[in-house]
Amino acid sequence: MQTLACLRNLPTRLLIIAICLVACSYSLKIGETCGSQNKCDGGLSCQTCPANGNTRSRCARIQPTNPTSKVKGLAFNRYSWLTTHNSYALAGARSATGSFLIAPMNQEDTVALQLKNGVRGFMLDMYDFQNDVWLCHSAQGKCYNFTAFQPAVNVLKDIRSFLDANPSEIVTIFIEDYVTSNKGLTKVFQASGLSKYMFPVSRMPKDGSEWPTVDDMVQKNQRLVVFTSKSGKEASEGFAYQWTYVVENEYGDEGMVAGSCPNRAESPPMNTKSRSLVLQNFFHTTPNRSQACADNSAPLLDMMKTCQEAAGKRWPNFIAVDYYQRSDGGGAPEAVDEANGHLTCGCDNIAYCKANAAFGTCDVPPISPPPPAAEAAAGGNPPAEQSANFADMDKPAKLLQSGGILLATMTFFAWL
Ligand SMILES: *[C@@H]1O[C@H](CO)[C@@H](O)[C@H](O)[C@H]1NC(C)=O
Ligand SMILES: *[C@@H]1O[C@H](CO)[C@@H](O)[C@H](O)[C@H]1NC(C)=O
Repeated sequence: MQTLACLRNLPTRLLIIAICLVACSYSLKIGETCGSQNKCDGGLSCQTCPANGNTRSRCARIQPTNPTSKVKGLAFNRYSWLTTHNSYALAGARSATGSFLIAPMNQEDTVALQLKNGVRGFMLDMYDFQNDVWLCHSAQGKCYNFTAFQPAVNVLKDIRSFLDANPSEIVTIFIEDYVTSNKGLTKVFQASGLSKYMFPVSRMPKDGSEWPTVDDMVQKNQRLVVFTSKSGKEASEGFAYQWTYVVENEYGDEGMVAGSCPNRAESPPMNTKSRSLVLQNFFHTTPNRSQACADNSAPLLDMMKTCQEAAGKRWPNFIAVDYYQRSDGGGAPEAVDEANGHLTCGCDNIAYCKANAAFGTCDVPPISPPPPAAEAAAGGNPPAEQSANFADMDKPAKLLQSGGILLATMTFFAWL
């Protein structure tokens, strides 16, 4: 790589810094105030959170660190994954039937975009509808035009494309299952091309022992973990019954009472150690986009500690929220990073894990306030770590920037 070699060259370095003074000055870090002229770094979005008094636009995280890129090869249950509640219920969407929707909506980007941002757990409500399986947000097990978002196969195909394109990524689906048609789930998973990726039920530990490692799952290409809420489907179709493998706290308003973390009715008690996976729900009964930024901030982190205690000192493997991009700064991605720090290396954040070090050996950086934009530019700071972790998420602006730097470097060399 010629560009790498040239970094050792002092004049080139100076030139790059000079270009950065111009080109990088619109690149802001978490917590910095932002606007149409001042763009946040990749992996961040510019937002306010009036619900908790934060009315100035600031850069907030929308992507967690990819945990397997930082601490490799552990058992699947040694990682935490950002999970979206009703992942398909896209705000502002119309039903694929053409009807308007009167269903509650819980997210503001598509599953395909959520995957790009590092979401790895998806909660999908599946119903029989129009001789097919649809994603509906409905009541009493029945789907209507005005509660039907779209055929499930569409979203499953998006997940398949992602697994095709990212051969070391693992995705988990939680089905709220109202499908009663014969082999309905099997058919829709087959139609999507996802069946070949399914992690077999026979390999899921039922006694609380460790899951296979992520490396093993990748190597065998069993990179899709699927749970259903219907117990009978495990025997009839080979879809794992969720609460044989997962403990889960109460969802909705009852799950948001500070200081308490009861299990949901279908789940064994949180501290049931014969279930190797822990799922933490944290969202209101009625989704509220303006409130979500406050919920997904300090209260989410507090509840994570409460649930960790309740679950017998186990950190959550799945953190499920509404409007996952909304927060006053770190949000759900920060919660996932903290859970991953505890799970993978015994540190408070996965960013503090040290390579090849004993569990509990942490590299905690000195606390410093985020630098003002001007200073960050003069230092030519590298992009925030989380934005480097997902290769496929570079913003066009960032590409333009790097392109400009590369071009200038090459011109400089030609001129030499
Ligand atoms: C529901 O949508 C379908 C189109 O997908 C349409 O044919 C049907 O008439 C609609 N049903 C009602 C009750 O509006
Ligand atoms: C949604 O949240 C906002 C901010 O907390 C609040 O003012 C509003 O009343 C909530 N809306 C509903 C319908 O609960």
